[in-house]
Amino acid sequence: MAMTTATTASVGTRALLLALALALVAPGLAKNGHVSDPYPGLLPLASHRHARGRLPSHFDWRNVDGTNFVTADVNQHLPQYCGSCWVHGSVAQLNDRMKIIRRGAWPDAMVSRQAVVNCALNSDGVAPGCNGGEPWYVFGMMQNRTRTGQAGMPDESCQPYMARNMECSPVCTNCDPGTDTCFPVTSYVGYGVHSFWQVRGKRQVAREIYENGPVTCSFVSTEEFMYNYSTNAAANEGGVFIDDRKYPKSMVDHDIELAGWGVTDDGVEYWIGRNSWGTYWGENGWFKLKKGTLRMEEDCWAALPVFDDLEDYLSGKYLGSYDGLVQQEVQRDQRPKECHSHGAGAAF
Ligand SMILES: *[C@@H]1O[C@H](CO)[C@@H](O)[C@H](O)[C@H]1NC(C)=O
Ligand SMILES: *[C@@H]1O[C@H](CO)[C@@H](O)[C@H](O)[C@H]1NC(C)=O
Repeated sequence: MAMTTATTASVGTRALLLALALALVAPGLAKNGHVSDPYPGLLPLASHRHARGRLPSHFDWRNVDGTNFVTADVNQHLPQYCGSCWVHGSVAQLNDRMKIIRRGAWPDAMVSRQAVVNCALNSDGVAPGCNGGEPWYVFGMMQNRTRTGQAGMPDESCQPYMARNMECSPVCTNCDPGTDTCFPVTSYVGYGVHSFWQVRGKRQVAREIYENGPVTCSFVSTEEFMYNYSTNAAANEGGVFIDDRKYPKSMVDHDIELAGWGVTDDGVEYWIGRNSWGTYWGENGWFKLKKGTLRMEEDCWAALPVFDDLEDYLSGKYLGSYDGLVQQEVQRDQRPKECHSHGAGAAF
């Protein structure tokens, strides 16, 4: 009995020490901006079922039968350090999924990372911005705006990335050469989210990537991954980063985009992912990580983007001017009668 009590006490003490240690370490771990904040309420479910059957042993959205379906690479930590990995991993997914759905057609959409940093709210209704967050903040905020008929998130041409916390409104601006002041642009191409859902586990994550496009996952980005990626990966066959150590959930601190997978000649299965630390990190900004390590495929998110504004713009419903989009039907109605009689082509 005394023995049991002693054991219980020591287990309790150890648990307490561990909790204290983690509490002390944890804030410093969120170096890249993933802060664990479970989705409130029931998790949104995918509106579709994944197909069955075998997946290829190698798949990569950067090269699908010779065609690239991913957009440009960026750095979350410029012009200053900012814990916005959750924005970067999520926006990269939306940009790439739009490119995939549009079969690579011009133009590549680039949702404004700064507008998302400013507008996405955590479960307390606060915009955490560079202090770290979750992918569902991004998709939830954009879905809310889509559902309530508000303007979507603009692209980078409305608001460049500043790597700091700013006001959500205005989301799109321009500056005036005469007065040297800037003004809000209220009519711009906005992007939204129809729905989003969680995917977990090697099989489901691969299925989701294959059927719908890249996903956004949280994982443990160790100091070795961050500072010594090249040393580790170069030492392994196929250039795969391998760290088989187990890490506690509390060390999950980074979000990235997964866009494919492969297997080495030695049979090591790996993910192909996009980081947001510039192209001078990893493999041109990307990485290969052994599957099932660093808690990679335990908490991934997928979303279905909405880009009606872009389609309308491209179809000629709008033309733009210095202070925003102008609906075109209005102008067509005002055209002289003879233009109509010659057809639209003759008017130009
Ligand atoms: C979406 O809107 C609902 C209702 O206003 C709100 O409760 C929820 O927090 C919003 N979700 C996000 C992720 O902003
Ligand atoms: C990075 O690699 C160098 C050289 O191999 C080594 O001395 C250092 O301890 C490593 N640092 C980490 C964080 O892995």
